[in-house]
Amino acid sequence: MKNRAKESILRVKPYIPGKPISEVKRELGLTDVIKLASNENPYPPSPKVIKVIAKEAYNVNRYPDGDCFSLRQEIAKRLQILPRQIVFGNGSDEVIVLATKAFLNKDDEVIIAQPTFLIYEIASSIEGAKVVKVPLKDLHYDLPEMKKAITPKTKIIFLGNPDNPSGQYITNKEFTEFMNGIGEGILVFMDQAYFEYVDSLDFAGSIKLIEQYKNLIITRTFSKLYGLAGLRVGYGVANEEIIDLLNRVREPFNINSLAQEAALTALKDESYYSKVKKEINKQREALYKAFDKMNIDYAKTCTNFSLIKVKGDSTEVVNKLLKEGVIIRDMKHWGMNGYIRATIGTSEENKKLIKALEKIL
Ligand SMILES: Cc1ncc(COP(=O)(O)O)c(C=O)c1O
Repeated sequence: MKNRAKESILRVKPYIPGKPISEVKRELGLTDVIKLASNENPYPPSPKVIKVIAKEAYNVNRYPDGDCFSLRQEIAKRLQILPRQIVFGNGSDEVIVLATKAFLNKDDEVIIAQPTFLIYEIASSIEGAKVVKVPLKDLHYDLPEMKKAITPKTKIIFLGNPDNPSGQYITNKEFTEFMNGIGEGILVFMDQAYFEYVDSLDFAGSIKLIEQYKNLIITRTFSKLYGLAGLRVGYGVANEEIIDLLNRVREPFNINSLAQEAALTALKDESYYSKVKKEINKQREALYKAFDKMNIDYAKTCTNFSLIKVKGDSTEVVNKLLKEGVIIRDMKHWGMNGYIRATIGTSEENKKLIKALEKIL
């Protein structure tokens, strides 16, 4: 069958997600396993969110609202944009895929950082585009070099802000300089999956940027701070013309009804999620302290994960940690051998990680 497949997909390296806890327990015969591999929120959704999910379960015999009316209105109100400036995705991952489907023809070019979130490359390659990679400089985006990589064939530039796995953000000044001179025919895709965690005043995170730049789309998600990764809901915000194009390639019922209700309730439960954020910030500091004490080389980030440099082969470290019941991410697949990435967990989870690292390193 291989010769019958779309030619472009044969070049695609399948995405390797963080192993699920159940798989590690089954394979290694362990009972106590924690997962710090996918930058999820270690805390459950708020009690109000859980209640609304249970209530909505009675209605899942019906298709969901394909337009996400209530969630759309609420987000539009909060962001002070028009409801038609939002496209929803089955996770913000899907908005990335919608953009590549809507904009890329075979042999078009896409510019990304190296390393960065793997879906940008996978989705672009499926459409037969050429992916041009610009190495990070001291873990930061090298925006001047990314700009130099533009050719007449460039259609999309992906900017993770803050990015994964570096955990670093782009400043307002850097972004303004970058956008200066970039033609409106290039879609600038700013992925803000972790924006809720960033407190820095110079962070180029404002939704107002889409008013200034007609070729900019900003995506956000309920998978990270809002802890709804399992329900899959994210969205993109841009001018109506871009949103209309993405909606043309969107599956009509892509956001399930539980996700719509849960996301809406989560947005309104501000006090719960600000407590969650405070706790994650506290745990991040505690983890840094423990790393310092152990002389571990790590990157300080503005997100809920951290890059850690290990001596030697990172796969070996990851496999040893698995045997200790700790699932973390090997950065070798992302072109960073010698690095692992750990999500900030609960206090108990972080202690287990530290204990395992002490044993192994
Ligand atoms: C940078 C970045 N963007 C997007 C996503 C996708 O998130 P979701 O599809 O759950 O919204 C992730 C998930 O890890 C990510 O790290």
